[in-house]
Amino acid sequence: MTDQEALSQSLTTQARICAAMGSPFSAGLLERAAEDAVRGGPVSRILAQWSGAPLMALLKDGVPLRWLGATHDLALSGEDPEVRAAWPVPGRPNADEAAWKAVSAAMEVRPERFVAFVGHEPQTNETRRSACLLGGFLAAAGAAGLPLRTWELGASAGLNQLWDRYRYDLGPGGVWGDAGASVRIDTEWRGPPAPLHGAAEVMARSACDRAPVDVTDPLAVRRLRAYVWADQFDRLARLDAAVDLARKAGVQVEAADALAFVQDHVALEEGRLTVIYHSIFWQYLPAQTQRGLEQAIAELGARASAKAPLAWLRMEPKPDNLAEIEVRLTLWPPGEDRRLARCDPHGRWVEWEASA
Ligand SMILES: C[S@@+](CC[C@H](N)C(=O)[O-])C[C@H]1O[C@@H](n2cnc3c(N)ncnc32)[C@H](O)[C@@H]1O
Repeated sequence: MTDQEALSQSLTTQARICAAMGSPFSAGLLERAAEDAVRGGPVSRILAQWSGAPLMALLKDGVPLRWLGATHDLALSGEDPEVRAAWPVPGRPNADEAAWKAVSAAMEVRPERFVAFVGHEPQTNETRRSACLLGGFLAAAGAAGLPLRTWELGASAGLNQLWDRYRYDLGPGGVWGDAGASVRIDTEWRGPPAPLHGAAEVMARSACDRAPVDVTDPLAVRRLRAYVWADQFDRLARLDAAVDLARKAGVQVEAADALAFVQDHVALEEGRLTVIYHSIFWQYLPAQTQRGLEQAIAELGARASAKAPLAWLRMEPKPDNLAEIEVRLTLWPPGEDRRLARCDPHGRWVEWEASA
């Protein structure tokens, strides 16, 4: 496979994923970018730093997402009126032909802007993932009968630290949270009813990320918005509401590697359920860090007691099938691990499992 074919294939693969995950606009733009890459057009020049990279490396580095994010960032910036005017808006979501024309012109006129954007690692923070974790938080709180002390790993902007301040509408699964909450999450619930009875009182919350997003920095927030697919207006609106709430609540995310953070900071507390949690983060860790974290958490678990219990809650791809996202909960004592649910990577649906 030539360089251009590998790049083009990575763009069509991402186009298929976007189409399957409800973003026809992004799919259309990526398809056109794939054709451009085969021709050796501006897309391949902008992504030249990955020239020679095999398909898997291009996907692992999120190269198609970087390019797509660069186009959205340009539209959001307002710097290019043609791109802005061609961008999808509610009522006109399928604007990919006009958008492609405007974006191809922009890539010729201001390639350096695209090159600068794609040089950064992709960053997302998906608040609807809190709907996948909610049942686990409540199940753990119910089992421990104690208030919570939470620690989030790979938290990005830290928006999911405020999971207990969001309002959830889970259709047949019921509702949970403050009816007047500014962040509203609707998720399709499948399977047995969610364990929504009971409250969870969060006494303190901390989080880390290797590259945290500062919600008080407008450019950092625009970059986060740029990685939301442009025709998914509900995700954009939810992100805006969550960023606003996070700013008001003074959410903090420590810049730290997750292993060092757990080793240096996480401690059990009497009268509190310590909860370590994460979503769509594990796959980015080197195997050595994964093993280190498993060991550090198990060591904490071995010291846990009924008065100072520990929960490890996670929403992550199954190790042997990255396409299947599962929610798992381990509770110490005694260290029992349970699979609670399967879910959509963006939290559009959760399938609770009867055995949970
Ligand atoms: C796909 S994002 C998910 C963010 C958030 N958990 C969510 O679900 O929206 C993965 C996050 O993991 C962070 N990350 C990757 N490796 C890390 C590490 N070793 N320590 C801390 N954070 C890490 C990245 O910076 C990124 O913010």
